[in-house]
Amino acid sequence: MSRYIGAIDQGTTGTRFMVFDHAGRPVASAYKEHRQIFPKPGWVEHDAREIWANALETAARALESGGIEPAELAAVGITNQRETTVLWDAETGEPVHNAIVWQDRRTSARCESLKAGEWNGKIRSKTGLPPDPYFSASKIEWLLKNVRGVRKRAEKGKVLFGNIDSWLIWKLTGRHATDATNASRTMLFNLREMDWDDELLKLFGVPREMLPEARSSSEVYGTVVPSRLGDLGSSLSGADIPVAGDLGDQQAALFGQAAFKPGEIKNTYGTGSFLLRNTGKALRKSENGLLTTVAYSLPAKSPIYALEGSVFITGAAVQWLRDGLGLIASAAETEALAASVPDAAGVSFVPAFAGLGAPYWNPYARGTIVGLTRGATKAHLVRATLEAIAFQTRDVVEAMSADCAGEMGAAAFKVDGGAVKNNFLCQFQSDVLGLPVMRPAIDETTALGAAYAAGLAVGFWKSENEIRRLWKTDRVFKPRMSKDERESRYGEWKRAVDCALRWAGSGGNP
Ligand SMILES: Nc1ncnc2c1ncn2[C@@H]1O[C@H](COP(=O)(O)OP(=O)(O)OP(=O)(O)O)[C@@H](O)[C@H]1O
Ligand SMILES: [Mg+2]
Repeated sequence: MSRYIGAIDQGTTGTRFMVFDHAGRPVASAYKEHRQIFPKPGWVEHDAREIWANALETAARALESGGIEPAELAAVGITNQRETTVLWDAETGEPVHNAIVWQDRRTSARCESLKAGEWNGKIRSKTGLPPDPYFSASKIEWLLKNVRGVRKRAEKGKVLFGNIDSWLIWKLTGRHATDATNASRTMLFNLREMDWDDELLKLFGVPREMLPEARSSSEVYGTVVPSRLGDLGSSLSGADIPVAGDLGDQQAALFGQAAFKPGEIKNTYGTGSFLLRNTGKALRKSENGLLTTVAYSLPAKSPIYALEGSVFITGAAVQWLRDGLGLIASAAETEALAASVPDAAGVSFVPAFAGLGAPYWNPYARGTIVGLTRGATKAHLVRATLEAIAFQTRDVVEAMSADCAGEMGAAAFKVDGGAVKNNFLCQFQSDVLGLPVMRPAIDETTALGAAYAAGLAVGFWKSENEIRRLWKTDRVFKPRMSKDERESRYGEWKRAVDCALRWAGSGGNP
């Protein structure tokens, strides 16, 4: 009966429901974008109700398009945009405010003051994260302070906090749960104790009563309760589907790439780019601007950790060429345009639209285009945009190499995400890293990772080894650029980044 596993991939731009078979092949899929709400410069919100409705709608559409009955789903896994913060009323099931998205910078000043004081070291050593508005803690604090009546109800457990994973699990099953990977992005979670940290809860004024239970990434959190789904959920009714996998989107991609061994790396190119390196059971601290995070945790086993380089804007810069400038009609056009010129004619573009993440961690940096001459064309700017994606990744790889001196080299550089369809980008990435870049046959590794976690929990797949055997290469890109050229081009990039950082310091306000 149960021939498939379903996955909800709730991303920053949209929600995708996918169904996979036992060979890990996608058999059905549906996608819907949701509204990006920008109430003020630097603020970014989503409507959690819209996201919930889209999860149900895409599930219904995917199942219908594949002619699949809900009873054929052995389990459903969830993966989500991380850090994005939802507070909702446990009695009405309604959010008390729009969700505050990970890119939102409204708590910059609060985080800067934490960075400047004694909390800086403490937060880093407990959570593996630098104080930054990126993470959930200061967003929860903001909501508790600014939405009237919420704090009192939160203290009684009547207003609940969750990232989008918890929001969806609660809506589907009535259980208030999260997994360790999502918890590790809140800046409230103690990586050693694998539990919420009382001292940090006090610092941000977050009552424990409002927090989800932090569980493993692969277990049954609850079963879908049809009466909770409303009209849109009728397609999921009639079967007791277990919700059985939960991973933050970047960790899900690592899982979907079957990067289970220490030293294995993946880099995902979506809205931003996120490189994770599996460090096994070792909790490694970065001296070079990377985050320490939970890679995944399986029941009754030690958690597996990762070092992460988070780059905020990569694919989103391509979207900006399309929607902000109207230079292109579709992201796919960039491949031919970039390849139509031999180089970027000296143009460098640093897309620091939301400040700079790893390894710089400067919330005030802003987007910068330098090196323009009269000969610069649309093709050069498009090429500079794709090159910037690859150079930002090189920045993170440099930091990773410095943190893991002598251990890098051999590991394959596995890539995934929407932008790796672009062959120019993959080739250029290989060129500026001087490493082979491996693109898997299934590029929807985020949804696949959530499906794997759910499938492992219910015995649909038996082991990590079984999953590892399902991984297949689509194409390997080998470096073609000379070392001299690689280093001189990278030097130019670093000078451009300097400009973006110095702009931040030149009197501009956040
Ligand atoms: N051929 C292409 N060349 C370059 N960039 C591309 C191409 N196709 C898609 N992109 C970029 O990839 C991104 C979409 O990737 P993906 O579908 O993985 O994102 P997503 O999962 O929606 O993102 P998120 O989960 O961050 O919301 C977009 O930012 C888009 O601009
Ligand atoms: Mg995604």
